[in-house]
Amino acid sequence: MNKLILNVLFIAIIICGVVNSLGFTSTTTLIVDVTQNNQYPKYGTCGTASKTCNNIQDAINYYNRISQNSNIQQLNLLLADGVFNNTNNFIEFKKFNTTISPLNVGSENVIFDGSVGTKSKETLFSFVSSTIWITGIQFVNFQSESSLIYSESGQINIDQCSFKNVSSKDGTVYLKSSNSLISNTIFTSNSVKKTSDSASVISFFTSYTNKFIISKCQFNNNVALNGGAIYAKNTALITVPDPLVSLIENTLFNGNVASGKGGALYTDNILLIVDSNVFTNNTSPTGSIINLNNGLMNITSSSFYSGTSLNYFLSTIIYTTKSDLNIDDSTFDRSFSVAINCDSSTVITQNNNLSLRLVCYNCISIIEGTQDCQGVPKNLDY
Ligand SMILES: *[C@@H]1O[C@H](CO)[C@@H](O)[C@H](O)[C@H]1NC(C)=O
Ligand SMILES: *[C@@H]1O[C@H](CO)[C@@H](O)[C@H](O)[C@H]1NC(C)=O
Ligand SMILES: *[C@@H]1O[C@H](CO)[C@@H](O)[C@H](O)[C@H]1NC(C)=O
Ligand SMILES: *[C@@H]1O[C@H](CO)[C@@H](O)[C@H](O)[C@H]1NC(C)=O
Ligand SMILES: *[C@@H]1O[C@H](CO)[C@@H](O)[C@H](O)[C@H]1NC(C)=O
Ligand SMILES: *[C@@H]1O[C@H](CO)[C@@H](O)[C@H](O)[C@H]1NC(C)=O
Repeated sequence: MNKLILNVLFIAIIICGVVNSLGFTSTTTLIVDVTQNNQYPKYGTCGTASKTCNNIQDAINYYNRISQNSNIQQLNLLLADGVFNNTNNFIEFKKFNTTISPLNVGSENVIFDGSVGTKSKETLFSFVSSTIWITGIQFVNFQSESSLIYSESGQINIDQCSFKNVSSKDGTVYLKSSNSLISNTIFTSNSVKKTSDSASVISFFTSYTNKFIISKCQFNNNVALNGGAIYAKNTALITVPDPLVSLIENTLFNGNVASGKGGALYTDNILLIVDSNVFTNNTSPTGSIINLNNGLMNITSSSFYSGTSLNYFLSTIIYTTKSDLNIDDSTFDRSFSVAINCDSSTVITQNNNLSLRLVCYNCISIIEGTQDCQGVPKNLDY
């Protein structure tokens, strides 16, 4: 008898599992319009075209109520044009998937403005264990004591957004054990508190089982202590057989500044492919463009142009420690007197377009594909 019940239960559980794994997703779409002042009770129904939710928190409250104990899994938030102020900050999305996008497809008038309302310094959106798509939203003028967007143990996809004048302690977008795909997005004049050691505009803390992809983005004039635009660190203590490889491609890094290391990028214990990017006018005292520790970086088909380091003689554009660095098919601007400092690292360069010789020093070994990387610093012939 007991056994029968157990068997029935067991089969029921399997059926549930199969149904779930077949991907039946129940989708709820809610419209939010901050220009309306609709009446509904707390946790009450809102989000239809005739009774839009007045803000995102109301939509989440309602969604949490109807999704309890059911298999509703996907929430689509459609935002009508308007300015979302800083009053209802810290919205937590837990364990359900969400899309956030303009109601009017292609609109550039869905704006989150941190300078309007009660200047909250909390995180704006926090996503935990969920898959998120944020598309076509503008974020401006925030000051956060943590990060603006936080994603943990999930997958966050940001497309066609912009982030401007966000200052934070931990980064504009903070990824903790989370995968991310950030595309067609522009980050301008964002900054991270200089005292926070390990943060940047995009901060990535993870193990080998997560990766980030940045594609067709722009990072302009962002400022941090280490990694003016991106700080990425693998926090895992052990290696895994097939570690994930992160990617930055078709992206422009212009005018980013790190007061510590890595004007544009700082990586630690990360495997990263840097393909078809343009770097202009990035600065830092150590590694004016890139600082790389304990990792692998493959740079291909990228261009490096100087800016304020124009007059620096033997300016170290890439500083690598205990790493493997491969640079292929890339162009280095003539105005650089470029050097790569490779403490305990191996550098391989091939087929690069160098107006000047690239100087590598302190390397364990240098493999000179086309004789473009010299072993010791020497005077450069103009
Ligand atoms: C969220 O989306 C991911 C990827 O599409 C999917 O694997 C997962 O099951 C979804 N989660 C929920 C709670 O619907
Ligand atoms: C901020 O938004 C809330 C609702 O989202 C609204 O009630 C309030 O009037 C707004 N405040 C300002 C200053 O715009
Ligand atoms: C940047 O954002 C802060 C905080 O909201 C605001 O006080 C400041 O005026 C903004 N700066 C610019 C240049 O818009
Ligand atoms: C280079 O970047 C710095 C810092 O963002 C900026 O102040 C400067 O104007 C830029 N120079 C050029 C030539 O763009
Ligand atoms: C990095 O480049 C080297 C040399 O071209 C290559 O052997 C290696 O497979 C590349 N690694 C990745 C992760 O692409
Ligand atoms: C090398 O770079 C110079 C300018 O930096 C450019 O004019 C030239 O076309 C490049 N050559 C190749 C083969 O890419």
